[in-house]
Amino acid sequence: MSEKEWFADKMEFPPETPQPNIYPLSWERKTTKMQEVWEAAQRETWDPEKLSWDTFDPDQYSWEERESIAYWWTLLSVFDYSAPPVFAEALIKTYEDHEEDPVRRCFFSVVRDEQNHEQMCGLSITKLLDHPDALTYTPKTELGKKLQRNAKWLYFNGGRYWNGYKKAVPKYSLAVLFSSFLMGEIAAATIFHQMAKGCEEEVFQEAFKNIGRDEGRHMAICMALMERDYPGLQSENKEVITKQIRAGYLFLSAVLYEPPMEFWDLPDDFIATQREAEEIARNAGFGIPTAEAKLENWRNAMLNLKGVLDRYDIPFPAIPEVGITGQEVLDVDLEEIIPIF
Ligand SMILES: [Fe+2]
Ligand SMILES: [Fe+2]
Repeated sequence: MSEKEWFADKMEFPPETPQPNIYPLSWERKTTKMQEVWEAAQRETWDPEKLSWDTFDPDQYSWEERESIAYWWTLLSVFDYSAPPVFAEALIKTYEDHEEDPVRRCFFSVVRDEQNHEQMCGLSITKLLDHPDALTYTPKTELGKKLQRNAKWLYFNGGRYWNGYKKAVPKYSLAVLFSSFLMGEIAAATIFHQMAKGCEEEVFQEAFKNIGRDEGRHMAICMALMERDYPGLQSENKEVITKQIRAGYLFLSAVLYEPPMEFWDLPDDFIATQREAEEIARNAGFGIPTAEAKLENWRNAMLNLKGVLDRYDIPFPAIPEVGITGQEVLDVDLEEIIPIF
């Protein structure tokens, strides 16, 4: 056991506190935009449990439909489930970096929002399957069995990125992390906007509207921080950002479009099974966009992000999958990506 060193008997004032340390003991406010976003977050707070669940009757759907819709929520939760711990790590980093007070509060609001989004996945899956998760549930149909296998592979892949993230957070500056965060937020805002438009169930519409609004605020947080920090960005950071955007594209494609097989470790029939379920969900009034519509939306989201990065002269990676030319990024390191949503 190490002895605690005592100082107060030897000196009038204590020694410097070693950094990084979570103690700024300071509440400096500089970035007005962050204060505004925080106030909006306080105003717009919502509770997934208080949506109009009383209008939702899963029994009006067939078991194939229930399993198909629950599969979509499961796919989403592979991304949304990681968001609270990912942003909680980022929140700690804002303390260690002695970020200004409204920045710390904004990251705190993101953690809370993402916890709501994750809860929403859980509530939907539990009601649809009559079981709290898709992994240990007993499938009722043949399609349900195949979807469960898909879900297990998604879970396996998603779980691999957590260690990479934990290694990445201390290594990169918040500035580098923002660009990955922004990418995740643009992707998320895109998907929830699409889903709010395409869903007939009242409770899902409400949820997608709320979640989409949250994601819009998260985007605003990233943009405000970029405006503050990117004018002085070093070129080595720009290189890392270009790489992370390419990695983020491959990672997020699994939920925004379809998982690229060179990145996601999945069985051959994975996409065919997913498409089958999406068709069934769509016909049941759960408006997952078609593959073509997804690709178009994903492309527009990427162009959006490119527009932001262009402002700061950060080279955009080539994304031939959606017809975007740019800097070739060949060595996407699975161990170092910042998986974010
Ligand atoms: Fe989210
Ligand atoms: Fe978000």
